[in-house]
Amino acid sequence: MAESTTDKINNDISIPAVMKAAQQSSFGDIRDVLTLGENIRVPRQLSSKQILVRVCAAAINPVDWKILNGKLSLVTRYSFPHIPGTDVAGVVVAIGSGVKRLKIGDKVYGDLEIHGGSYAEYVRGPESLFTVKPNNLTMEEAAAIPLACDTSYQALFKKVSPPIGKGSKVFICGGSTATGLYAVQLAKAVGAYVTTTCSPRNFSLMEKLGYTITQTNVETSNDQNQLHVIDYTEKDFGEELKDQNYDVVYDCVGGAEQWISAQKILKRGGKFITIVGDDTSSVISLKTLIEMGFSIVNRKFWSVFGLAHHDYIRHVLSENFQDLDDIRTKFIETNKVKPLIDTVFDWRKDGVEALYSLYEKSKSGKAQGKLILKIADEE
Ligand SMILES: NC(=O)c1ccc[n+]([C@@H]2O[C@H](COP(=O)([O-])OP(=O)(O)OC[C@H]3O[C@@H](n4cnc5c(N)ncnc54)[C@H](OP(=O)(O)O)[C@@H]3O)[C@@H](O)[C@H]2O)c1
Repeated sequence: MAESTTDKINNDISIPAVMKAAQQSSFGDIRDVLTLGENIRVPRQLSSKQILVRVCAAAINPVDWKILNGKLSLVTRYSFPHIPGTDVAGVVVAIGSGVKRLKIGDKVYGDLEIHGGSYAEYVRGPESLFTVKPNNLTMEEAAAIPLACDTSYQALFKKVSPPIGKGSKVFICGGSTATGLYAVQLAKAVGAYVTTTCSPRNFSLMEKLGYTITQTNVETSNDQNQLHVIDYTEKDFGEELKDQNYDVVYDCVGGAEQWISAQKILKRGGKFITIVGDDTSSVISLKTLIEMGFSIVNRKFWSVFGLAHHDYIRHVLSENFQDLDDIRTKFIETNKVKPLIDTVFDWRKDGVEALYSLYEKSKSGKAQGKLILKIADEE
């Protein structure tokens, strides 16, 4: 896309020539390849459909450290130094000539896809990836929504047909994952009956969402505040819920064992939808792509010709502002879904250690909600 000079710049806010931004020098370990640059050029040149956002907060996701160590290098074609970061919340400070929906001064949130750029004081991106942020959330809370919540929103309402709704029986593998926390709330919000796997360490996390945890199968309960939880450290959900005719199993954990157990609990024609797949290490090499392709084709074949007709769906988020608008108006601003935040680090105070700590927490697989990088104040 040809670049033109920025058409409109917010005259009230002076946009500096240089900024502070994370810099990834190559693929490798977090502390070897990630630094904080102080004099990085602000991307002021916008094409007609782009906006420039002054970043207030960003969120760390597992994809960040997977990209950083090169595990997805077959699909990421970066030139270094690269500014990482997908989730973002901030204020629009400049717009291209063809930008119609958003205006200077709008408080927005969005997900910049694999191209990244949000761990910076300013980020440039297409208008199509941003929309107005929920009015009942802070910037840090808004940054916690896009990638994780939209992934679960698309999985439950767009990737399965019919979408889940009142009375659907939904099982979520990994209710305490960031994606799972949103999935539980989204499914509950539309009146689905929800069961999930969760270790006892995280029962209190679920209670923070307002649920009463029960480990007894309350399949017929109409109490929407009750959440049926299976302690995965003790029990196999496939055995616990065998033959209980679930409509959908949504997997936020990964590993072949989720698919094996899911088939025991799904109804005939039920859907298994995974955002991780069998390989939890998420290395995208030619070998893993071939293996993944073979395993999906094999499972699709049996979903058509097998007796149970269980559909196997591998879901990858497809970012767009329309979903973020739906999530905002139907679920967030109606207080049916809220973000849970594990930690906020502020790089003005903690420097590059803020990034290292957040990446390391995400990589540990022990985060209890979203990990947030605070970059600037709202005003
Ligand atoms: N396809 C896509 O578009 C897409 C989008 C978003 C995320 N993802 C992928 O989805 C996965 C989850 O990401 P996330 O950000 O939601 O995760 P996360 O927040 O980093 O997950 C951390 C949580 O997972 C729990 N957990 C770990 N092992 C578990 C198991 N075997 N069963 C149940 N819970 C378990 C941990 O609790 P305890 O260990 O204490 O139980 C911890 O609370 C990642 O692999 C990510 O890359 C894919």
